[in-house]
Amino acid sequence: MSGTMRFPRFPRLSFTRPLGFLVLACFAASALAQGVPRSDVADPRHAASAPAFLPLPRSLQLRSGAYEPEGAVALDLAGHAALEPLALWMAGLLSEASGQEVSLDREDAGRADIVLDLVSTEDMLARFTGAGLPRPAQVGEAYALRIEPEGVTVSASGEAGLAWGLVSLWQAVSSRPLGSEWPGMDVLDAPEFAWRGLMLDSSRHMQSVDYILGLLDAMALHKLNVFHWHLSDDQAWRLEIKAWPELARVGGYRVPAGQAPLDDIDPATGEPRRYGGYYTQEDVRRVVAYAAERQITVVPEIDVPGHATAAIAAYPWLGVDDHGIEDVPASWGIYHNVFNLEEKTFGLLEDVMDEIVALFPGEYIHLGGDEVVTEQWERSPRVRERMEELGIEELQGVQNLFVERLQAHLEPAGKRIIGWDEILESDLPPQAAVMSWRGVQGAIEAAAKGHQTVLSPAPTLYFDHVQNELPNAPPGRGGVITVRTVYDFDPLPAELTGNREFVLGVQANLWTEHIRTEERAAWMTWPRAVALAEVGWTAPELREWEGFSTRLESHLPRLSSLGITHAGDTQAVTGAAPALALDPLRREDRELELCQSAIELVLEDDAPLDGEREAFRVDILKPCWIWRDADLSGIGAVRARVGQLPFNFEIGEAINSAEILPPRSPEGEMTVRLDDCSGPLIAELPLAPAVNNPAATTLAPASLADVVAGRSQGDLCIQFTRPTLEPFWALDWIELVPAQ
Ligand code: ACM
Repeated sequence: MSGTMRFPRFPRLSFTRPLGFLVLACFAASALAQGVPRSDVADPRHAASAPAFLPLPRSLQLRSGAYEPEGAVALDLAGHAALEPLALWMAGLLSEASGQEVSLDREDAGRADIVLDLVSTEDMLARFTGAGLPRPAQVGEAYALRIEPEGVTVSASGEAGLAWGLVSLWQAVSSRPLGSEWPGMDVLDAPEFAWRGLMLDSSRHMQSVDYILGLLDAMALHKLNVFHWHLSDDQAWRLEIKAWPELARVGGYRVPAGQAPLDDIDPATGEPRRYGGYYTQEDVRRVVAYAAERQITVVPEIDVPGHATAAIAAYPWLGVDDHGIEDVPASWGIYHNVFNLEEKTFGLLEDVMDEIVALFPGEYIHLGGDEVVTEQWERSPRVRERMEELGIEELQGVQNLFVERLQAHLEPAGKRIIGWDEILESDLPPQAAVMSWRGVQGAIEAAAKGHQTVLSPAPTLYFDHVQNELPNAPPGRGGVITVRTVYDFDPLPAELTGNREFVLGVQANLWTEHIRTEERAAWMTWPRAVALAEVGWTAPELREWEGFSTRLESHLPRLSSLGITHAGDTQAVTGAAPALALDPLRREDRELELCQSAIELVLEDDAPLDGEREAFRVDILKPCWIWRDADLSGIGAVRARVGQLPFNFEIGEAINSAEILPPRSPEGEMTVRLDDCSGPLIAELPLAPAVNNPAATTLAPASLADVVAGRSQGDLCIQFTRPTLEPFWALDWIELVPAQ
């Protein structure tokens, strides 16, 4: 192109432990410690009829003796007022899952069925003896959950642990048939990593506050605890800044790319209608408070000093020399626009940081730092002059200046900065953290230099990649990233194990260039984020695909019943879906091979403005498809449905390799060649009837050339000729028509 916890209270019961359980517990603990095979009951992966816990806990022991709720079930908050919203929510979910009313016992009437038990850190650690101690930073998130005939106890040394214990209780109860007893068990659990994050890009497309609150709910149900909120980029600035109101008021709106949006005149302005909006500070406070109630920290990102076009459009004096921007742009990719080095620019950025500090209580603030193109700095005499004034010799030092200035500004407020791994090229202050996205190399380097780091590598944890290639899958980046791909991610490669203490955790990123709607954002997130949650939470030696996919299968209906949109049944999301029977006479774009996958996208049409739009799987540099082994016997013609798309990509030098095949008619044509893309031309479908339709058009059938007669089979290469780079054409489907 970033946890909160608190205080104490009492245990309630002394437990009567069945002797058999004690023996089992000792066995289990030592077995866990030694990594030897465990009894079925002690191993959380294999416990027979074990609940669908996601993520898998560190240790689970089923007990004989279930809890059988009689009448209303009381949940005693034990004075943890800060936990009340979450406890109320969990009580509601438990009521639905159990068919028994579960309510909060605010009176502290002493007759609670579910008890929250805040214990000392030492006590909590003592429970893990032999089961692998949680890391110090994670003790507050550790919990013990016991379900026994007398009721339920959740013990933890921090409110985060109590919250996660309640979530696990809900998962245990909702894994059982409605109305059945709550199975007896002991769960002892702590996360592997402190940072289990999801990034949402609200710049490229914006989501409502309600969507974000729902996302936070869904995150908490999987113990994901960092919401990284990408709030500025070239295509929009989405955060209200009181001191500099135009950032959002101007920077939050753009005319989308394509002819259809250009023709969509807003009667109020007489200009093309703008897409956009921004989050008011009131919105942000709501999101941050809601997240805190769910033990989630919000890490805001303002991208500096690149990806700055929307801000420069709002205040052109932020830009370099003659690069003032008139309008917020709508192309995807990497713009060259960067902030200049004037004091006034730093003043604005510091004002922005001051308002951010007041809004976001978390420790980290994300400064972006990715994909900075230095060309404008290099060419600008004024920037050279400023570099001299500031004693900066190299262009790289310019990026460093932004990191240093903002870090220094934020430090007195107790904040630390985090940035994408390009910031490693600067002389980073030691307290800065690094988010590794260009693979995991950035994390390895950061940890070796003593920086905290989060692993968020593309493409493995980039949720803008499509989840499968089924025809109903929404648009996204090409190259399938399945749940399995995410699950198999190793957050501790060999090069990092020696520097384990610097690995904060893992994060997946949902960039939204191609994700226009909230429903699709959710679809792209789930259930891959369930796999992410287990990668971040569960000890690596306990992670195992078979068990996970079984639990996931039970979990998907639970996601559906909670209203969480997800990518479908387990087969669909694991890539194990049986190939659909292919129609011998027809191929959808996603059933064809691409001639190349240099920049492969599943792109949505820009039209119609309202209603369903087609999506096309296409390599934007070479729009070209292969139908392997097409059955040509008795075929007389070919027809197809095609769409025209804006070429709205800032792709630097790569643009020079965009293939533009010369047309025979002014409007161009779709061509079909036999055997390969330099083989004989066997059909030509003129695009003239489609040029005035910005949406998809079904072209009239074109007869096949004689050369096909007598051929029973052959590969077909489908391409488009066109007079200009833009618009470019893409195939929706193609059909062979039998000869009359
Ligand atoms: C990034 O994907 N540019 C961090």
